[in-house]
Amino acid sequence: MRDGQPNPVTRLADYQPPAWLIPDTTLDVDLRDGHTLVTARLTLRRNPERADKPEDLVLDGEHLELRSLTLDGRELNPGDDYRLDGPKLVIPGAPDAFTLTSVVRIEPEKNTALEGLYRSNGMYCTQCEAEGFRRITFFPDRPDVLSRFTTTIHADKSAYPLLLSNGNPVDAGEEEGDRHFATWEDPFPKPCYLFALVAGDLACLSDTFTTASGREVALRLYAEHRDLDKLDHAMDSLKRAMAWDEQVFGREYDLDIFQIVAVSHFNMGAMENKGLNIFNTSCVLAHPDTTTDAAFERVESVVAHEYFHNWSGNRVTCRDWFQLSLKEGFTVFRDQEFSSDMNSRAVVRVENVDFLVNHQFPEDQGPMAHPVRPAAYQKIDNFYTLTVYEKGAEIVRMQHQLLGAKDFRRATDLYFERFDGQAVTCDDFVACMEEVSGLDLTQFKRWYSQAGTPVLTVTDDYRDGEYQLTIEQHTPATPGEPDKQPLMIPIKLALLDGQGRPLPLDDQGGTETVAILREPRQVFRFRLPEQPTPSLLRGFSAPVSLRYDFSEEQLVTLLAHDSDGFCRWDAAQRLYFAALARIIDDGESAADQLPRLAPVLERVIARAAEDPAQAALLLGLPAENAVGDRHAPLRPQRVHQAVSGLRAALGEALADHWWRLAEQFDEPRYQSGGDAMGRRRLRRLALAYLAAAAGQGALDATRVGEYLGRDFDQPTCMTNAQGALRDLVHNGLDDQGRLARFAEQWADEPLVMDQWFAIQATVPGPDTVARAEALLDHPAFEWTLPNRVRAVIGTLVNGNPSAFHAPDGSGYALFARALKKLDGINPQIAARLANGGARLKRLEPDLAGKLGDALRGIRPGASANLAEVLDRILGA
Ligand code: PHE
Ligand code: ZN
Repeated sequence: MRDGQPNPVTRLADYQPPAWLIPDTTLDVDLRDGHTLVTARLTLRRNPERADKPEDLVLDGEHLELRSLTLDGRELNPGDDYRLDGPKLVIPGAPDAFTLTSVVRIEPEKNTALEGLYRSNGMYCTQCEAEGFRRITFFPDRPDVLSRFTTTIHADKSAYPLLLSNGNPVDAGEEEGDRHFATWEDPFPKPCYLFALVAGDLACLSDTFTTASGREVALRLYAEHRDLDKLDHAMDSLKRAMAWDEQVFGREYDLDIFQIVAVSHFNMGAMENKGLNIFNTSCVLAHPDTTTDAAFERVESVVAHEYFHNWSGNRVTCRDWFQLSLKEGFTVFRDQEFSSDMNSRAVVRVENVDFLVNHQFPEDQGPMAHPVRPAAYQKIDNFYTLTVYEKGAEIVRMQHQLLGAKDFRRATDLYFERFDGQAVTCDDFVACMEEVSGLDLTQFKRWYSQAGTPVLTVTDDYRDGEYQLTIEQHTPATPGEPDKQPLMIPIKLALLDGQGRPLPLDDQGGTETVAILREPRQVFRFRLPEQPTPSLLRGFSAPVSLRYDFSEEQLVTLLAHDSDGFCRWDAAQRLYFAALARIIDDGESAADQLPRLAPVLERVIARAAEDPAQAALLLGLPAENAVGDRHAPLRPQRVHQAVSGLRAALGEALADHWWRLAEQFDEPRYQSGGDAMGRRRLRRLALAYLAAAAGQGALDATRVGEYLGRDFDQPTCMTNAQGALRDLVHNGLDDQGRLARFAEQWADEPLVMDQWFAIQATVPGPDTVARAEALLDHPAFEWTLPNRVRAVIGTLVNGNPSAFHAPDGSGYALFARALKKLDGINPQIAARLANGGARLKRLEPDLAGKLGDALRGIRPGASANLAEVLDRILGA
């Protein structure tokens, strides 16, 4: 390593069971102004499963000031009895069974990393996953040490009337000096990453849920008082999730109370702490006046996701952090299925696939590529990735596909029953699938251990009434994994006739089959009366990149007739990518594409009213990053010209259609629900096309601007206000100062202000770098608020390629400065944002040089989190 220090590496192969177990943990947390005292009483027992009986008890602890340590009531002395070894507390020659009591002093007020105990807008809260508990007290901070927690919190009564922790409330009372206390007991043994504590003055929305077996559960959602009116949607989503998990997975809730607390300062989306979920406000608060439809959908899925963790994560947890996808991949699968059942299944599937293909695939093909079950990490925080979550969910989905719904349910029942109360591995999960179904999933398990996106190359041939599909698989090398093995890949397919109708594939007249690919190359044969159009990878049955030389005619057939929502969308995407490739690589113009593309879009528009949400998915052009990733080297400005040019050309050519859709789906007043959301989505897409054309002078800018202006001035909901504002600002049509008015109107709504920042940071073009620079100096910008940082820097870097990749390198300079600044405040957020540089090696040489220089400049002195990502990107 040339610059900076290398980080220590943790390896899966080195796993050893814990040396001591901790059946009971009693915490006493005394919250004082400026500091907090934490007293922890741990009962320790040697773990019989650890044969080598280590001499030393080693506990994790970071940023703790140790005040006292007693063993079975005897005060221990530093040096003789224990030593502090960096972030570890070591007690040599510890007995086989004893009680250890520590008192530590911590400073939540100074905690900007948002791990452990910290403050957010006057309340105290915690975040312990993955390794935050060690910032609260000395403990074996690893998921395979399960303990029963009893927690007492003391605090000032008027500032913190509400004192919460996991489990059930068992005691409370007054204390001297206007203080009070509360004690919570969690009967379920849990790893410390699921510990949580909240103290604050919060508003509460209460309800109840009666479980299938007739137990009444109290549901309490907490937020700051001014946000009390934004909790209904989360409550509704929670109750539906609880009922769904009973029906679909047979899982009932297990405590008498379930609580969610909304917190403004949060590194991630939300956290599944036992009985006390803590949520980023952005993933729980929702009201039509302040929240877009997309955010409503996200609230529904995140509330469900965290609730589902109660079984997939809490009752059955992970043995070590390499198994993270055991809970995350499975729980994402569960929340996706929930959303599919609550909304349109076809639309949800396409949204999930779109996200996977355009975000996880690039990760899997870039410097951060890692298996769903990684073999090594420096900082586990850096592995809360789309690969672990989204690809992990696809691996569970493939098992669902291979077993069928009924056996899959039997296998998950077996899994929950057998491993209840334990910390287990991905292998344990798959073993249940094998046991129930009799399938041999040995080869399938490579999906967990091998990184990279498999590429399937399909060719076909029709002769003498036989159709031959030849499928080859190849997974390109990823960092540290040069040689790949063939995977077991389920490929669902149908074969369509000349009219787009599916041909029977067997004697029973079935029209869909699943080809299971195991070899590097396999041939599948079908007796057919004619040469078909293949409808491949239906439902996106495996997370692979599929190559087949579709003719344009075939794609049009699939788009018009395929009954599979994914295949229709995929056909549309292929048509768009092909048109954009002709512009980017062959020097054609956007106008050149119209004779071929416009009629295709017109056919979709003609049927748009049948399913507006699906039509919106089919009619939307791919994002610039998705287009750029298909061309080497990456030339972001050229990609931007192509995409924005094509959007404007289609906006102009189909203007009458767009106007008609805008009028047809205009709503006199706000309507909630999935159908109304679908209509708004299609209408906003139509208006975005018109605005793009108007912005390039191809349509009457005044007319479009006035129409959008009305949408903005008398909005039925935030979806329309914000959508209109974005269209105006991004296309230079905001001549009435609406951007400034929006900021005045919503100054007191942080989540709306995040949108205001994001709209500006995503204005296309290099000038936005200077604009973003100014936003960082805006009085409402806060470096310590992750949502705000993401709204400006995250959206600029990940959602605005023509600005981020400004030819003069100014976007990179801002990026590097921001990372350095953030790294001193919140290393997790810095590292996460740093991933925005992952396309470095794909960039045209001049840009690659500039980005590399900028990132190398911040490597010295980087935190372990940031260093790991920078080293991967820079190829150190
Ligand atoms: N476990 C959380 C989830 O539901 C994510 C998370 C990870 C939150 C780490 C905070 C810290 O996916
Ligand atoms: Zn999760």
